[in-house]
Amino acid sequence: MKSEYPPFIELPYTKPAQAPEGEDNSDQYSESLPAYFIGHFSKKEAKIFDPFLGFGTTAFVAEKLQRIPYGIEADYERFEWAAGQLEHWQNVRHGDAADCANFGYPKMDLCVTSPPFMPSHHKWNPLYGGDPNYAGYECYLERMGHIFAAVANIMKRNALIVVQADNLHHKANYTPLVRDLSIVVSKSLKPVGETLIRWTDTEPEYAHTHCLLFKKL
Ligand SMILES: C[S@@+](CC[C@H](N)C(=O)[O-])C[C@H]1O[C@@H](n2cnc3c(N)ncnc32)[C@H](O)[C@@H]1O
Repeated sequence: MKSEYPPFIELPYTKPAQAPEGEDNSDQYSESLPAYFIGHFSKKEAKIFDPFLGFGTTAFVAEKLQRIPYGIEADYERFEWAAGQLEHWQNVRHGDAADCANFGYPKMDLCVTSPPFMPSHHKWNPLYGGDPNYAGYECYLERMGHIFAAVANIMKRNALIVVQADNLHHKANYTPLVRDLSIVVSKSLKPVGETLIRWTDTEPEYAHTHCLLFKKL
């Protein structure tokens, strides 16, 4: 049976126009990625959620496509910057994605997100701002599973959840992050596919990315 989700697509790599001056926004993703999934898998006025809002790329694209953005960002400066330029600024919150069920949000139609990545040989856990009480990759993965269980609670039935991730290579160290995130997110959401995106215009070192696709049952 043919899947409704393409296993492979090609997109231009479009860094968002809305990038704050002087900030390190190297973890901001290409606008073309949320634009593809929002455009193909939601309707106008749909509620689009990003639990890791960052600089708000998903939210800006959602507004551009006449959808309603919602999102959470742990870093106050990023949150403030993104909220400051959104029409639906009251829908984005500063806080922990693990608490998303406590923000009084309506049920969401689609989630498109890129979580913070962690190499398995690091101790610094980006989900806890490096707090040594929560150091290490195992703790990161466990928390990621917990966060997506909370995300599952605020999605509509049959809603699609798109998680962008890359495997990480650094010298002799390799982290199969795509596989590991897939395992922990699958504990609360049903895996329904994976789309490999080839960037048509990047350097060979960053030629592609993965999107893991899940459904809320
Ligand atoms: C990869 S970035 C997202 C970038 C975003 N897609 C964009 O294009 O701007 C991940 C974001 O998650 C935030 N973050 C980390 N832990 C979080 C948590 N527990 N809850 C919410 N946001 C968190 C980080 O501060 C970072 O901005």
